Amino acid sequence: MMRFLANTGLKVSSLCFGTMTFGHSERWKHVGNLDQKEADQMIATCLDAGINFFDTADIYSEGDSERILGKALGSKRTEVIVATKCRFQMGNNPNRVGLTRWNILRACEESLKRLNTDYIDLYQVHLFDPHTPLEETLRALDDLVRQGKVLYLGCSNFTAWQLMKALATSQQLGLEKFITLQAYYSLVARELEYELIPLCLDQGLGVLPWSPLAGGFLTGKYRKGQPAPQGTRRSAAQGRFLKFDENRGYKIVEALEKIAKERNVSIAQVALNYIRQKPGITSVIIGARSQEQLEDNLASLKWELTPEEMETLDKISAPPRLYPYWMQERSARRDP
Ligand SMILES: NC(=O)c1ccc[n+]([C@@H]2O[C@H](COP(=O)([O-])OP(=O)(O)OC[C@H]3O[C@@H](n4cnc5c(N)ncnc54)[C@H](OP(=O)(O)O)[C@@H]3O)[C@@H](O)[C@H]2O)c1
Repeated sequence: MMRFLANTGLKVSSLCFGTMTFGHSERWKHVGNLDQKEADQMIATCLDAGINFFDTADIYSEGDSERILGKALGSKRTEVIVATKCRFQMGNNPNRVGLTRWNILRACEESLKRLNTDYIDLYQVHLFDPHTPLEETLRALDDLVRQGKVLYLGCSNFTAWQLMKALATSQQLGLEKFITLQAYYSLVARELEYELIPLCLDQGLGVLPWSPLAGGFLTGKYRKGQPAPQGTRRSAAQGRFLKFDENRGYKIVEALEKIAKERNVSIAQVALNYIRQKPGITSVIIGARSQEQLEDNLASLKWELTPEEMETLDKISAPPRLYPYWMQERSARRDP
């Protein structure tokens, strides 16, 4: 259940609860708009199930998610690992966006206040910023660690060259390094396996997959040729921002359903366990719009897929074999 957070000695649960569904905001309504009471119950359920890892971001419901999470944790805050992020536009100030020193220091202060805490366990940059020199970003993040406001650093939505360049720059300048990569990874989106997972394994980073159910698609609630059920994320136009091949996705859901029936568990649990059992994964960030969904997802911790079931799912969801990977694999088979 507990895994080391990258190559630190810190232990985190192999499921992390993502709180993107917390808060009231018109822009985030399609994802969820859970209030404090609902959030309190969900956080208590997570703590009871042994979850000690929570993910949020300043941008989720424009700060409301952080505020609600901080309040829900209350006195338990120091017992758990809280991860948040900065980078996306907050408010109207043209400088309250990106990974400049100016924005990072300000964003961190504001997150600390909203979370009602003195420190952030894992502070993540939400997306690469092509307009700011990496050195400026990394120095600002390092300062936050030196000041004790942040304990560990992570990044999200980086390409492999961006991440490797960041790691090398930190190493060269003697700065704190990113220890985690938070990235989109599920049975319908395995692009991470080309470069980023091998890179994280090689460099000792922990991988924290987001949208492991592809925003709800991998629960079986969406059926080919039928309209999305009312009130679900994918029934809203903005709720379809994740990129994947739907036709292929339906075949994957069929394979998940077969295993789910055999085991008498939900399709969502099978999809979550697949990602949780893949190499390099530290903690899978689950999302839930309701208490019922949360309880279902947490129940995936009670069992594991067999190697044969993993292989079946691996095969049906295999990403295309691109160059130069197929060529390197071919040679590797011949090498002594
Ligand atoms: N770094 C990033 O850029 C990034 C991006 C996205 C998310 N994240 C993080 O990852 C977390 C999880 O992302 P996500 O919410 O997209 O994850 P997800 O697991 O792919 O989707 C969660 C959604 O699926 C549906 N669902 C979940 N469990 C279900 C169940 N057991 N049965 C039926 N439906 C179920 C619910 O939506 P409906 O009820 O609407 O169907 C729920 O809100 C977020 O909270 C956030 O912390 C990070």
